[in-house]
Amino acid sequence: MNLKPWIAVLVAGVAGAASAQDSNTLSIDGEPMVTEVAAPAHVENLDTIYSGWRFRSAETQALETDDFDNPAFVFVDQGIDLFDKVDGTENKACSSCHENVEDFAGLRTQLPRVQDGELVTMENLINDCRTERMGAEPWKWSKGPMTAMTALIGLQSRGMPMNVTIDGEAAPFWEQGKELYYTRVGQLDMSCSNCHEDNYGVMIRADHLSQGQINGFPTYRLKNAKLNSIHGRFKGCMKNIRATPFAEGGDEFKALELYLASRGEGLSVETPSVRN
Ligand code: HEC
Ligand code: HEC
Repeated sequence: MNLKPWIAVLVAGVAGAASAQDSNTLSIDGEPMVTEVAAPAHVENLDTIYSGWRFRSAETQALETDDFDNPAFVFVDQGIDLFDKVDGTENKACSSCHENVEDFAGLRTQLPRVQDGELVTMENLINDCRTERMGAEPWKWSKGPMTAMTALIGLQSRGMPMNVTIDGEAAPFWEQGKELYYTRVGQLDMSCSNCHEDNYGVMIRADHLSQGQINGFPTYRLKNAKLNSIHGRFKGCMKNIRATPFAEGGDEFKALELYLASRGEGLSVETPSVRN
């Protein structure tokens, strides 16, 4: 443990991840999810990785076990409507070209990925179709239509293990993400690792600190009653340590997303997850 003085003040009680879990096994509509697995070799400081679900209260955990109870599904339904909605100068809907949304099974596990020399996320792929193929306006990164669509497409990979490519063309992006993860920023002079690697399992105020995994995104937060994007969460964490956040959709957050995805290798996609 490497507690900074301020964090020690916030910590209400120190508990190891194992003892503080409300429940250990997650099944969604009867389908088992991997919420705990040996850390990938490149994560030197952890033996085991855990889904953020493992750190939530029993009540919050329960919401994710059944799609009827999961409040995120209101937005998945909006995604289904948007998929069939004609938009833009070409008079096309997503479904004009992508006959079946289920064809996107597996995609969530592999993103972000390098394409034509650029690191692309799911939001980029969706907006490329909107601007290049539909003649429509791009959707804003963390707004309703985009998170509804990333939830719908991500859901098609639910239960599949995260598995991004980090070598070859992806290596420089991954290195950049790793560097950002371990760099201290903001007035509190903290890095992502100070909380999510060094201190996961402890309580910060009323919040049980997880490893900051992204296998459940976009995630429905009870706090703001909507879907939250990966970059939106990064932004929130940077603000909490009084750092100026990078831009959503910018190179820094895309690189960080690749690095975090790689730290979750083997965890099941839980999209759309529920958090406090
Ligand atoms: C005019 C046809 C067309 C329309 C309309 C269209 N797409 Fe695409 N989309 C494509 C083509 C072509 C590709 C690249 C080849 C492929 O992967 O299928 C693609 C790729 C994608 C990919 C990446 C798939 C992968 O496996 O790499 C996603 C995600 C996607 N589209 C989502 C959408 C969404 C969401 C919409 C509606 C907002 C949409 N598309 C509208 C033609 C279209
Ligand atoms: C001061 C401690 C702190 C720092 C530093 C911090 N976070 Fe967080 N983060 C939290 C808390 C608290 C939560 C909410 C509880 C949880 O899931 O851990 C959270 C949640 C998250 C989640 C959501 C996890 C899930 O399962 O839904 C992600 C992803 C995340 N953080 C990424 C980051 C990244 C990337 C950085 C560095 C830019 C960072 N955090 C820095 C405290 C921190």
